[in-house]
Amino acid sequence: MTDPSSLPAAATWGQDILDRLELLARHSEGGPGVTRRLATAEHRAVHDLLAGWMADAGMAVHLDAAANTCGRYEASEPGAPALMMGSHQDTVRQGGRYDGILGVVVPLACIKVLHDAGERLPFALEVVAFSDEEGLRFGTGLFGSSAIIGRLNPEDLARRDEDGATLAEALRGFGLDPDGLPAAARQPEELLAFVEVHIEQGPILEAEGLPVGLVTDITFGANLSVTLTGVAGHAGTVPMSRRQDALAGAAEAIQAVERTCRERDDLVGTVGKLAVSPGATNVIPGECSFTVDIRSPREPVVAGAIADLQSAFETLAAARDLQIDIQQRYQLPGCPCTPWLMEQLEAAISAQDLPVRRLFSGAGHDAMAMRHLTDIAMLFVRCTAGISHNPAEAITAKDAGIAAQVLLRFIRDFDPSRRPAAS
Ligand code: GLV
Ligand code: MN
Ligand code: MN
Repeated sequence: MTDPSSLPAAATWGQDILDRLELLARHSEGGPGVTRRLATAEHRAVHDLLAGWMADAGMAVHLDAAANTCGRYEASEPGAPALMMGSHQDTVRQGGRYDGILGVVVPLACIKVLHDAGERLPFALEVVAFSDEEGLRFGTGLFGSSAIIGRLNPEDLARRDEDGATLAEALRGFGLDPDGLPAAARQPEELLAFVEVHIEQGPILEAEGLPVGLVTDITFGANLSVTLTGVAGHAGTVPMSRRQDALAGAAEAIQAVERTCRERDDLVGTVGKLAVSPGATNVIPGECSFTVDIRSPREPVVAGAIADLQSAFETLAAARDLQIDIQQRYQLPGCPCTPWLMEQLEAAISAQDLPVRRLFSGAGHDAMAMRHLTDIAMLFVRCTAGISHNPAEAITAKDAGIAAQVLLRFIRDFDPSRRPAAS
């Protein structure tokens, strides 16, 4: 056995991690960046690649009923509870090559080192590549992790993708039985903790010259789907005073989102998707649908913004003689990370002679779901210019290697007995 305190050098180890991420990124639908949706051929290819690497790292691998790729590196006493790590395999449309999947490849790289050195720990290590966190295909945020915590909404199985396939059909097409989904649920006693490594997706670590950061809390978020319906008409003949233009109403609504969110430092809002019907240059838009994504570290701020916006939208729709339908697509309760686990991650960062920068996550993560099952912590990794959800997403090999060094040190020193009795 090698000296357990020894760690691979950051630059070369990080380059190996980036090379693997590059191979994974090739499995993408067309267009710039990476687009990988739940239960597609690209998802299958990534599962196959990860499963091979997991096996090579001495792990037992299975695809669970929710299409999560799960690997287990057995403890010195087989069957012992596990420290689970992981993040999502899926992406947004035209996303980057690190969001999510970095948090699968880094723990895998750590376990490979343990396996090659013949090291076993008193607890098992599990790595999960969650099948769907972004919800790109079916609008189901956190689908993979919700299945693991046993909190899936059965109605989601009837959701349709843009080609009309339901989520249940997509799972069947992936060789899975939707009726078997409850079997993906894990029990709290099987796990000791969940740790997620993720790119920061913001500019703070880069601005402060730090490769990694310790997450304190994860944002609260809510997502609305709004449809304004007016009357489609001839662009040349209907006087301006008699129009019921759904897109003009949506434009006013978007400004209301911007205005409301600019009023506070701790609130952000985004209209990221807009569909105009019938969508012709010489037709007044009869229908316009758009989404609204609202986030804040504080739940009452999200709730207040949603209430204010619903009322503003209804007022502007009435003033323009438009019908309005507002659906709340989902609400993601934010959460703090768990102090005893953060302390151990903090110790691992310090042991690498790095300053410990604590920071808040404005993005949602699988850890938000996992905290219903076990205690959670997150390690952020610096990304170039804070850019994410964009093909230009980038990290350096050295930072990937430093993240792996911190995580491996954390794994080796992990002491579940330090969990407070009531935690
Ligand atoms: C996940 O990427 C999110 O939308 O926060
Ligand atoms: Mn994302
Ligand atoms: Mn992510």
